[in-house]
Amino acid sequence: MVKRFFLLWAVLLSFYVSGLASEGEKIFHARGCAGCHDKARDSIGPALSTISQKYNRDPNKLLKFFKGQAEPIIWPDKFRIMEPFMNMLKHMEDKDLRALADYILSF
Ligand code: HEC
Repeated sequence: MVKRFFLLWAVLLSFYVSGLASEGEKIFHARGCAGCHDKARDSIGPALSTISQKYNRDPNKLLKFFKGQAEPIIWPDKFRIMEPFMNMLKHMEDKDLRALADYILSF
């Protein structure tokens, strides 16, 4: 009984997590982030896997960057290319930023 309950909980949790990630994925594409950020390969911008690693998969740390409360830590010398998008991020709702962060950190 306990085992079955745990299984149900695990299934629900994975639905919940994948639901959040796919919302983030939609935003990521709708806002044009994918144009410069590949999932696994550094291109114009760092790969999502690079971002994920440098941010230690910590969404709060990434949220601080999105809100302009923290300096870029990956390629600060190329921040000028990313900068125009910071304005857009600063005006997005918290829940959307959170979904975006969860998506990026899933790599
Ligand atoms: C025109 C190309 C371009 C687009 C579009 C773009 N970025 Fe970037 N991004 C860059 C470049 C170049 C860097 C490297 C500079 C840096 O590290 O800040 C970067 C860096 C980043 C970083 C790492 C910041 C750090 O700590 O160094 C994150 C996170 C990020 N982008 C998220 C996003 C999101 C989310 C979007 C969509 C809203 C987006 N980017 C759209 C070019 C782009």
